Amino acid sequence: MLTIPKEKLPIHIACIMDGNGRWANSRHLPRQAGHRAGADTVERCADFCMTHNIPWLTLYAFSSENWNRPKTEVHALMLLLHEFLKKRLHQMMEKGVRLHAIGALSRLPARTRKLLQDSLEATSGNTRLNLVLAISYGSRGEIASAARKIAEKVSRGELQPDAVTEDLFGEYLDTAGMPEPDLLIRTSGEMRVSNFLLWQISYAEIYVTDTLWPDFGDRDMEAALLDYSRRKRRFGAL
Ligand code: IPE
Ligand code: IPE
Ligand code: MG
Repeated sequence: MLTIPKEKLPIHIACIMDGNGRWANSRHLPRQAGHRAGADTVERCADFCMTHNIPWLTLYAFSSENWNRPKTEVHALMLLLHEFLKKRLHQMMEKGVRLHAIGALSRLPARTRKLLQDSLEATSGNTRLNLVLAISYGSRGEIASAARKIAEKVSRGELQPDAVTEDLFGEYLDTAGMPEPDLLIRTSGEMRVSNFLLWQISYAEIYVTDTLWPDFGDRDMEAALLDYSRRKRRFGAL
């Protein structure tokens, strides 16, 4: 059980859910089995956040670069996303989870996009946990798209260049209105951010664990939070 004071807990945790493939490999299972096991970790993680009153959880589920994986794997991941949405909507409603999605959603198969849209709408009144799925998400693409929208407004004379501040820029990102992550967790030991929330993690605390995503459990989350609670966040000041 966690003994960390509330003010030392993050408001927003973001996770790079990595290591599904290696988890499956080490068991001589197809990679898909790793992704399936990883989907169960998503639910565990969301439950953990709800138990500890952490209101925001963002999960990197599929990157814009992941489209470059073999067709069979992309297909399996899209199918899994579809099943996840279909199977878990009822639970999300029961538990009070509000679903959000960031990323180039137009690239998703039409039926999954529709299901996602329906889930976003259905859960929009829930307030216990904000669960943000980053799907077909790439931070550079997100930033370029924000710049494009701003440029269009400036060229139409609807926006003055001086008005383009950090805050305004943030309003054009997919994460507009969401708090910035306080804690970024990456599983499976890779020391990189892989095009995830580059703008938003400017001052996030980073925690990398060797645990593979399908094995990531309450103990790992507790260890991450304990580590986080001991950090001194200075934000560049003294
Ligand atoms: C993370 O696991 C899930 C996605 C990127 C969709 P990986 O599929 O990257 O697993 P590893 O890194 O190959 O072990
Ligand atoms: C990052 O993992 C993307 C997701 C977890 C969805 P990857 O496995 O795609 O990243 P790299 O290839 O190790 O950088
Ligand atoms: Mg990986």
